[in-house]
Amino acid sequence: MCAFHRDANGHLLVDSTPLAEIADKLGTPLYVYSGNGIRDAFTSFASAVAPVAGNVHFALKANSALGVIALLARHGAGADIVSGGELDRALAAGIAPADIVFSGVGKSRTEIAQALTAGIGQINAESPAELDSISSIANELGVVAPVALRVNVDVEPGTHAKISTGQRSTKFGISTDQREAADLYHRLHDDPNIAPAGLAVHIGSQIQNLAPFEKAYCALLDLGQSLRSEGMPVPTLDLGGGVGVDYDGGTATDFTDYGALVQRIFKNTGFTLGFEPGRAIVANNGVLLTEVIFVKQGDNKRFIIVDAAMNDLLRPTLYEAHHNIEPLSNLGPAIGLADIVGPVCETGDYLGRERQMPNLQTGDRLAVMSAGAYGAVMASSYNTRPPAGEVMVLDGKVNVLRQQRSVKSLLDEESIPNF
Ligand code: LLP
Repeated sequence: MCAFHRDANGHLLVDSTPLAEIADKLGTPLYVYSGNGIRDAFTSFASAVAPVAGNVHFALKANSALGVIALLARHGAGADIVSGGELDRALAAGIAPADIVFSGVGKSRTEIAQALTAGIGQINAESPAELDSISSIANELGVVAPVALRVNVDVEPGTHAKISTGQRSTKFGISTDQREAADLYHRLHDDPNIAPAGLAVHIGSQIQNLAPFEKAYCALLDLGQSLRSEGMPVPTLDLGGGVGVDYDGGTATDFTDYGALVQRIFKNTGFTLGFEPGRAIVANNGVLLTEVIFVKQGDNKRFIIVDAAMNDLLRPTLYEAHHNIEPLSNLGPAIGLADIVGPVCETGDYLGRERQMPNLQTGDRLAVMSAGAYGAVMASSYNTRPPAGEVMVLDGKVNVLRQQRSVKSLLDEESIPNF
């Protein structure tokens, strides 16, 4: 069942708690997550891939609230991180260093040293220069670095261009054309400062069709098997993230088909598999609550001006992403189309355009649906707007995960020079 649904009186609930009650108590704009929904999505993903004995590393970039990470850690999740900051978050939330995978094309020397000192389970390297850097830092620290190679198998993932990473034209991974990746794997095997951990792939995000996964995974398996036949140890194949969700209905994602595909390709191949789902665990288990400030009739358009904006949820502006927008209570039938916009001084500041909306008034409240992934984590303080706070409802209890930042805290970070 979907974590967000309406009761018989038309009130929008998170599990069984009315969202209006939360908005009354904690104000808006506010991110609200269903802890039960997040937990259920994670356990259903984990059981879909359980027959192939996979390690599931939640991609923290999708939602890195400590409370969310800690909840997932309790249910067996590891972490996929992309910065030293995310490493600190994973550790603070109680994830064991061995259950952390470090991805990304530009890890600084400080971040690599931080990861090796913490003893993390796997670093996914993406270039020869990065391998040199990891090797020299491991040597300095007197440790052996567990390194997997992220390869680029040149697969078009069929998603938005800005979140496609599978093609050769992107900055990601090491080409599997010719012998580039294979030769580099031999090099990492011969390096006494490095323990080869395997191969990794991630072709993009919000992928709604299994065909690109199949292509990429088969190419990864081929390379893994051919390296093994050359005597290389290849313990792990890391399959990345990318499983898409339904932004229209906001229903729970069914991972069965994805799990079946993975089983069909990797069963009895002897590789330990790794997974890095982000969006699929959290997207439909979060909403952004907002309140109508004014309703303004333009020349031929109604603008619903709300107190959340592109600084809180950037996805519509950045990717033309669609999020359903729903009143918290039943406000009657739609009276026509409207744009739901924030107060930021840009025409691109909208949460939804051309939506059928009821007769909204100042003070009415709305939920921007499917905002649990890549929402709060991509917020900024543009226009000196402190980003919205985050709460998680778990077993009926409302837990504040992060207060809305204050303008004072923003100003306190700055200083004026002595002119
Ligand atoms: N692993 C790696 C190496 C990644 O780069 C990503 C996402 C993931 C895993 C998790 O992918 P997921 O399961 O969430 O699709 N801000 C964009 C999405 C960017 C995704 C970046 N990488 C959005 O709002 O749609």
